[in-house]
Amino acid sequence: MSDDKERTVELHYEGGVLKLPVFTGTEGESTIELKTLLGSTGMTTLDPGFGNTASCSSKITYIDGAAGILRYRGYPIEDLAVHSTFLETAYLVIYGELPEPGQLKEFSEKLRDNSDIPAEMGAFIDAMPRNGHPMTLIASAVNTLAAYYDDSVDPGDENQVELATIRLMAKLPTIAARIYRNSIGEAPIAPDTSLDYVDNFIRMTFGDKAPTGELGELFNKAVGMLLVLHADHELNCSTATVRVVGSSLADIYSSVSAGINALSGPSHGGANQAVLEMLEEIRDSGISIEDFLEKVKAREMRLMGFGHRVYKNFDPRSKEIKVLASQILDRHENPDELFALALKLEAAALQDSYFTERKLYPNVDFYTGVIYRTMGFPTNMFTVLFAIGRLPGWVAHFREQAVDPAFRIARPRQHYIGAAERRYPGQG
Ligand code: ACO
Repeated sequence: MSDDKERTVELHYEGGVLKLPVFTGTEGESTIELKTLLGSTGMTTLDPGFGNTASCSSKITYIDGAAGILRYRGYPIEDLAVHSTFLETAYLVIYGELPEPGQLKEFSEKLRDNSDIPAEMGAFIDAMPRNGHPMTLIASAVNTLAAYYDDSVDPGDENQVELATIRLMAKLPTIAARIYRNSIGEAPIAPDTSLDYVDNFIRMTFGDKAPTGELGELFNKAVGMLLVLHADHELNCSTATVRVVGSSLADIYSSVSAGINALSGPSHGGANQAVLEMLEEIRDSGISIEDFLEKVKAREMRLMGFGHRVYKNFDPRSKEIKVLASQILDRHENPDELFALALKLEAAALQDSYFTERKLYPNVDFYTGVIYRTMGFPTNMFTVLFAIGRLPGWVAHFREQAVDPAFRIARPRQHYIGAAERRYPGQG
């Protein structure tokens, strides 16, 4: 935020004129500061879904939805997707700079050393309903980290937050893989500290069934790239949730657990699962793409994986993912027929004025599900992979907020439209 207090806008209201400062962001975007509005005018603003509201200043991620730009700490997503591993990107998002080789080694070693979970926690995970949705289960498991590690729950202590950062990053893949293996009735696989972050997760998930050779390398690269593409997305629903919960001075584990729950919804991270279910429904019902799109236009359903609150052009992540999907499906011996269906659906929607007029384009979730399915992940694990990718972003936002001098507890106002005062029945 620039402290360029020279620029102002004037608000003319019944009681007079209020001058409001305008701040200029790094890329020249303008933000009106409303801090004095309520005190000066007695008025609040109404902004459902916070579509026009910046709730904080942040240095982590820049998005220009109209131009299809996404950058973490200034680096374009296209460069990070191709040149950076997930751990390098996670380090960048959390600490602000790409790691030097020594820093990366240290970060990676700390994650390996902390990748195991306490035996009691393993027993707790094993006792949860094995056919429950894995997002519900990982959110619950992550919440309990605050109880297992109560030496790292003070958001005001930077050392404790750092300890919790490492534990969250190190243990989430272990928790996720154990929940997956429980769901298929297989014994958990302990972390293998000789493997890198992504390989270890794939191995803990699939064990000996993990693909090897060229396909194994491609899967590793694909999972790594998908995690990079999901690492942060500024004040999306789950990250805003992490900040809101953290603003009450709740610990980072509870805040991230709340973020996981927010991500589970089909309008947010749950969309990658919803896309796959939609494609399966189209295939199984035999409905033509044209008729399906007619139903969408008649508002009987949404075209899942299309549209975005911020991107009113192609989601830059979806471009990278589409390329990746083609590479994997080209080399796979049983290419997924749902990919061909998704391509046709995308092409048909992009030629239809309903979608183009509303600037509805494929988002990050349109092709991720097809890739994960080809790799053997069940549909209900897709959002869990999103959560593993988004964790650095949640952590970075929690940390940034904790040291922000402008930080206040999140407490929006409301526009009350309910009943005026009335008498309790029988009280005159
Ligand atoms: N299918 C059909 N119509 C749509 C879709 C869609 N996927 N998305 C938006 N529209 C229409 C709306 O009906 C509305 O039409 P109208 O102006 O005639 O009423 C118009 O486009 C604007 O839509 P809004 O709902 O105002 O857009 P909003 O920004 O609130 O919603 C959202 C964004 C939730 C992502 C929406 O596009 C959607 O539901 N998409 C499908 C779910 C999805 O893919 N979510 C993943 C998002 S990416 C992520 O979270 C990682």
